[in-house]
Amino acid sequence: MDCSTVRRFDVVLSSDVLDPHNPALADLVGSDRGLVVMDGALGAAYRARLDRYLATRLPGFHVLSLAVSEQHKTMGTVLDICAAAQDAGLARREVLVALGGGVCCDLVSVAATLVRRGLPYVTVPTTLVAQVDAGIGLKGAVNFGGGKNYLGCFTPPAGVLVDPDFLRTVQPPELVSGLAEMVKIGLVRDADLVAALTAHGGRLVASGFTQPAGLGARLIARSIQLMLEELAADPYEEFELRRLADFGHTFSGRLEELSGYALRHGEAVAIDMALSSAVACETGHLTDAALAEILSVLLHLGLPITTDLATEASLLDAMRATARHRAGALNLVVPTAVGAATFLPKLSDVDVGTLARARRRIDSHASAQLQPAPLRPAPLEPAPSDLRPTVGLP
Ligand SMILES: NC(=O)c1ccc[n+]([C@@H]2O[C@H](COP(=O)([O-])OP(=O)(O)OC[C@H]3O[C@@H](n4cnc5c(N)ncnc54)[C@H](O)[C@@H]3O)[C@@H](O)[C@H]2O)c1
Repeated sequence: MDCSTVRRFDVVLSSDVLDPHNPALADLVGSDRGLVVMDGALGAAYRARLDRYLATRLPGFHVLSLAVSEQHKTMGTVLDICAAAQDAGLARREVLVALGGGVCCDLVSVAATLVRRGLPYVTVPTTLVAQVDAGIGLKGAVNFGGGKNYLGCFTPPAGVLVDPDFLRTVQPPELVSGLAEMVKIGLVRDADLVAALTAHGGRLVASGFTQPAGLGARLIARSIQLMLEELAADPYEEFELRRLADFGHTFSGRLEELSGYALRHGEAVAIDMALSSAVACETGHLTDAALAEILSVLLHLGLPITTDLATEASLLDAMRATARHRAGALNLVVPTAVGAATFLPKLSDVDVGTLARARRRIDSHASAQLQPAPLRPAPLEPAPSDLRPTVGLP
């Protein structure tokens, strides 16, 4: 019996998606009935517009407004969504829509996997983290038993609708956290993206990603395109258990847990990227100058590069947990230059001494930050990108 299937989904970039004149959401949903699961914090800014949109284009849709945060990212909240789907009488082809940040998208992905053994779901990610990462992939998860993302699924969405206009209301620290995921994919794949973010990140954050005009959407599209390329090679993480997109995701989960989720996801990813880059330097994969450049970019964007939680014990613990998760291989992603990276495959590639020296490099850079390394000049225009990328999944 051959059980393989091919699933494709569209990632559509649009603007003003809650304007009833914009058919994008209704087109992507492709069903008369469904349930929109909305981050309750969006209510004041978006609920009236959502209701108008649904009344005009999707009158058979219900809305569930939920308190959504890392503390609410639990099976309990997933079951609340399942109960609302049942109350709404959703049938097998009717749709869940996630309207919110990464937490909301992750919760809906899990609920959609469970209800009637699988409902289609569409994500409308409303934070930068979700627009360039959490909301565009296949993975959903909840925290469980003290473990970040311990329970979860790989369920492709039916579609993703990315609207940078939502970023106008996102708090600056949350936008900075999202920049970390963009820098992440740039550091391993695209030096021009890093340069553009470095040059314009401050203005993008200060303007809710509206200024310089059009640039935010282009950089988001480029980040998504790179991310989808990375995911498409092995979307269910079945084969190699190593992906460049996992840069910054070896130590970060443990640091988030230890902080009680006071560290934002992107902040933890930034600290992990700094550490992984310093390890790259220690192991001869990255020059001192390139390390200084990477650390300067992170600091310049307002991201942290160190935390007291990054102790020898917690870092070793994180590496061992990651290796267990990756079938015994560490596969630490380390940059070899700005825009290129490789893997350190074995746990034995990074010993305690390497970690300690890597941390000292970061600490000395952090204390010398009054004289940061020169930043790479940005191209006038970032590389043009397809504003409607489509990914095919094996
Ligand atoms: N599934 C994946 O592949 C994947 C990838 C990366 C991250 N994640 C997960 O994503 C989560 C982080 O996502 P996040 O940073 O979006 O967190 P989040 O969903 O908690 O959103 C951050 C904050 O922004 C608020 N918010 C959301 N949209 C807003 C808007 N348009 N205007 C104003 N406020 C808004 C939220 O209420 C919340 O307070 C983590 O749980 C992480 O594990 C998942």
